[in-house]
Amino acid sequence: MYKIPPGVFDVIPEDEKEPWKSSYLRTFVEEEIRILAKEFGYEEIRTPLFERAELFERGVGEGSDIVSKEMYTFKDKGDRLLSLRPEGTAPVIRAFIENNMAAQGNIHKLFYIGPMFRYERSQAGRYRQHHQFGVEAIGNGDPEQDVEVISMIFTLFKRLHLSELSVCLNTIGDKESRDAFRIALKEYLEQYKSDLSEDSLKRLESNPLRILDSKDPGDKKIVESAPSILNYLNEKSLKHFERVKELLSLLQIPFVISDKLVRGLDYYNHTVFEVVSGQLGAHNSLVGGGRYDGLIKTLGGPDLPAMGFGAGIERILQTMLKQTVPLPERNRPLLFFIPLDDKAKEKCFALTYTLRCAGIPVQMDFGGRKLNKTMQYADKIRASYVAIVGSDELEKGKVELKNMQTGHKSTVPFESLERIMKIEAEKTNYLKTLCELNKPFHTSEEQSFFVEQLSSSIKETNSVTKNLANALKNMEHIIEN
Ligand code: HAM
Repeated sequence: MYKIPPGVFDVIPEDEKEPWKSSYLRTFVEEEIRILAKEFGYEEIRTPLFERAELFERGVGEGSDIVSKEMYTFKDKGDRLLSLRPEGTAPVIRAFIENNMAAQGNIHKLFYIGPMFRYERSQAGRYRQHHQFGVEAIGNGDPEQDVEVISMIFTLFKRLHLSELSVCLNTIGDKESRDAFRIALKEYLEQYKSDLSEDSLKRLESNPLRILDSKDPGDKKIVESAPSILNYLNEKSLKHFERVKELLSLLQIPFVISDKLVRGLDYYNHTVFEVVSGQLGAHNSLVGGGRYDGLIKTLGGPDLPAMGFGAGIERILQTMLKQTVPLPERNRPLLFFIPLDDKAKEKCFALTYTLRCAGIPVQMDFGGRKLNKTMQYADKIRASYVAIVGSDELEKGKVELKNMQTGHKSTVPFESLERIMKIEAEKTNYLKTLCELNKPFHTSEEQSFFVEQLSSSIKETNSVTKNLANALKNMEHIIEN
């Protein structure tokens, strides 16, 4: 038997032991993401799973852990050095430049859902193939753009009923502010040269800011009393950060300032943020992101500002399960046909196709198993209705629909099945609309808007009906003659 390599996992319809691997939960989250992206005005971008290795060296930074330790890099048969993408930002910016998207307008709001590959030590919550929902908002450098991006992931988490999450917020300022801070930080860290971890000692020269991000317990202690970037911001950087905080407060999005948050990728400036959950253990970050105004130019494109985030879908699912939020149901058929003989089987087969063409989730039993076994199966897949079809039903042209929840039975002609199942499929929508309409109007504007919409839709319906009536009359006339 072949075994899956370490650090990766299968997504199967339902995984009872580790439910976060169930595809029905993942699909639900992805569907919510697509709805959210549409509402926020983001459009999908898909880039290949591998790129030239140098894109990440240049984009993410040669000194970052991701590039120096974690990339899956290989030579293809044409001797090109390629890497499986460890993250989504550099590929999206490469595609943005290569497809000359800047020529299509000033603002570009892009999102993606897909796998990323990092050769990390595999642990709970850390995988060698993980999946990210990411967004990249290109073209606007205002604090409003930063807060829109943060509010987007916050909205998703609210919809998924996640709670007790903290938005950790920091700024790493512009280049001038960082240069000033780097000198002060280096001066401070040099006092502890002999106590720093090997990795941090190397970074002391190349990129001391990254030491703030070190996971080494000894480094962490030293970093606790290190100078704060917030004291080295120039006026422009400070103003940007203050406005981000004001706007987050305006939207009532709670955040904590984490002045040691620098993020492990080289491209950031100004706002950086993470969303963490107390329930995830060591790898507690659900989301990481920030502003990266210089990256597009560095990669050979126009000088445009940008802001984005990447959210780990596995960690979102794991947090949902830990917090026992309301979960969706697995797909279930609305109707399940059980034919009792070959003739009935043929009729059910044709009916199933007709109903499916009309968009109704129908299944039927092909197997000719014993009736009680088939009923058990219908129960297991949680069919809402079951119709048993035998010679009697074929003769009368009617089926008995059994409501599997209430046990109630009703006799329905074959030709009414489509309409009845449609009514049944849409019932939650009617209820939702009814509930919405049942709420009292708070202001006269709400009421007049509603009346206006209603009367215009009545007019539209009237005119459609009139047109239909005319068309029918014409047809009758044609047929009669
Ligand atoms: P990142 O912080 O490296 O940022 O990754 C984003 C999220 O992906 C993390 O917060 C985490 O939830 C998830 N993640 C990362 N590595 C793993 C792993 N090995 N196993 C499971 N989940 C993981 C980026 O990748 C940036 N490109 C984000 C960004 C977009 N910044 C601006 N735009």
